[in-house]
Amino acid sequence: MELYLDSANIEEIRHAASLGIISGVTTNPSLLAKEDPKIDVRKRILEIHSLVGGHLSVEVISTDADGMLREADEILKWFPEATIKIPMIPEGLKAVSKLSDQDVETNVTLIFNPVQALAANNAGATYVSVFVGRLDDTGADGMEVIRDVREIWDIQGLSSLILAASIRHPIHILESAKAGADIATCPYKPLMQSLGHPLTDKGLSAFLEDYKKMQDEIAKLKS
Ligand code: E4P
Repeated sequence: MELYLDSANIEEIRHAASLGIISGVTTNPSLLAKEDPKIDVRKRILEIHSLVGGHLSVEVISTDADGMLREADEILKWFPEATIKIPMIPEGLKAVSKLSDQDVETNVTLIFNPVQALAANNAGATYVSVFVGRLDDTGADGMEVIRDVREIWDIQGLSSLILAASIRHPIHILESAKAGADIATCPYKPLMQSLGHPLTDKGLSAFLEDYKKMQDEIAKLKS
């Protein structure tokens, strides 16, 4: 399972990219606005693109297909490898279908059930983004949707990549991988949390202390 960073923050993206663990970045209007409500979106997106180079989802804000297609044209002028992120609404599916005919990659966002994912796949979506955490917030089991989508995809031989989104904690990353998601897009905090373990820190301190003891003994012998 690949990992993407779900962020528009340059420091977070720079750091995660330097670790070699992410192969893409997903953004949305809320993540961009959180950085700065007056943000120059084009400039920030190109900055992110230059830092990561892999997948980069850029979301449209129109709610009609023609507007979405106009925005997609504009984004593709910024950089032609962009993945156009489109909301899971009927007009969005219309736009996805047109973009798919032009071989433009799309990420259908705000998917909350497997039938929405199926429709997005049939419209030609490259990625289907299931919002696990937001479902959990309502008392539902968000991961169950990922499991259902994987099962349907395997039975039916469907091709859209399954993207686990709205990740809240490291267990979501673990469960997404076990459920067969192709990608999990994670905010910086759970991504960094997932890299650590108290026993790793404890073990490393012990190794370093023991090494220092050896060095001290050698120094004593030499003096
Ligand atoms: C996906 O691409 C979205 O940007 C994201 O995962 C939304 O997650 P949230 O529920 O944390 O806002």
